[in-house]
Amino acid sequence: MHHFHYQNERLYCEDVPLADIAAKAGTPSYVYSVATLTRHFTVFDGAFEGVPHLTCYSVKANSSLAILGLFASLGGGADIVSGGELFRALKAGIPPDRIVYSGVGKTEAEIDYALRENILMFNIESAEELEVINSRAAAIGATARIALRVNPDVDPRTHPYISTGLRKNKFGIDVDGALKAYRRALELKHVEILGVDCHIGSQLTEIAPFVEALKRLKILVGRLAEMGIKVQYLDLGGGLGISYSEETPPHPREYAQAVVQELKDLPCTLIFEPGRVIVGNAGCLIMQVLYTKQTQTKEFVIVDAGMNDLVRPSLYGAFHGIQPFEKGKRETRVVDVVGPICESSDFIARDRKLPALNRGEYLAVMSAGAYGFSMSSNYNSRPRAAEVMVDGDRFFITRERETLEDLVRGESIPDSIERARQI
Ligand code: LLP
Repeated sequence: MHHFHYQNERLYCEDVPLADIAAKAGTPSYVYSVATLTRHFTVFDGAFEGVPHLTCYSVKANSSLAILGLFASLGGGADIVSGGELFRALKAGIPPDRIVYSGVGKTEAEIDYALRENILMFNIESAEELEVINSRAAAIGATARIALRVNPDVDPRTHPYISTGLRKNKFGIDVDGALKAYRRALELKHVEILGVDCHIGSQLTEIAPFVEALKRLKILVGRLAEMGIKVQYLDLGGGLGISYSEETPPHPREYAQAVVQELKDLPCTLIFEPGRVIVGNAGCLIMQVLYTKQTQTKEFVIVDAGMNDLVRPSLYGAFHGIQPFEKGKRETRVVDVVGPICESSDFIARDRKLPALNRGEYLAVMSAGAYGFSMSSNYNSRPRAAEVMVDGDRFFITRERETLEDLVRGESIPDSIERARQI
């Protein structure tokens, strides 16, 4: 369910024609719907009503301050993976006691920052990291609240690049290793064990792998109880998928039912780290057709958004729907929609049946709210896109398009080269 729709053959976000946004903000730009974001957050969070829980939105999916601010206003927490994400979350007003910190490569500086801000919990991903967090906490005179991220070795049946809970993945600690690490944590003076964490992958379209992981976690929780460790928080990560085209992922309510059913005798607070399911279908990328080009084998539609703006098709072969701003009846063509970047992998869609398109017209790439802007880059020295938030019949540019000066901010030419240039 989202708020992008045609009205009199024109594509709208809520009550604003996307054409108005293109005219004001230019293209390429990301456009997000407040109504969809709010709905998705409240549906997910509301699915666990009556069960002690915390919805820690996964900042990496879309780190826009405006979106984080919206979730903060809805009572959300944050799942972060870097000092940068911590900075954003705090700046947006998410309270530190609702922030959990995952990631295999936390630096000492990042750990210190999170300790000083007194976040709720570190999700620790290796035995070595446990030692470092303990010693950093000792140095600062703090206590680190921790969970160990357990790798349950469950196949999430998703794209191999985004599955994380298999033994061969770099994430978390296997169950036996985790038991050892918990025993060690009991000896450490500057950590307090709060619970267990797990995240098995992203864009899951079935419930079974979640339930399988939970069953394995429950066995671990039992073993921890025998060691005298009471699990107060069980962090189940994110991963619930969305529909990009034909997928039929479970509704958050079904997911909640399965989780609650499986955990009914476990008195602890649940933490969730949803990303894509909240923001994915709440955003689109708007772009303009620069040229059309017929070659001997293909018809290309060349647009002003490239893989630097949206890398998912190039990186994962991901499908994103494409809709023209003006619907109208026209013949269809099978085309490749490609960007201006100098790479053959720079495409938004391949062999896609679309209405015949003309130079100058505008298109929206759908379901681009998650891992869109947040994975964008300056490749080919392209300024990053603007971001726009629509709220009813109003819209706001929440991030200005980068300028050419932004591209070289912080750069300099060494004096020796500068001198040589002047000779
Ligand atoms: N928690 C942890 C520890 C994670 O690593 C992730 C995502 C999430 C939560 C949120 O997962 P979600 O609910 O969004 O599935 N760039 C890829 C997705 C990478 C996901 C990385 N981790 C894509 O564009 O599909």
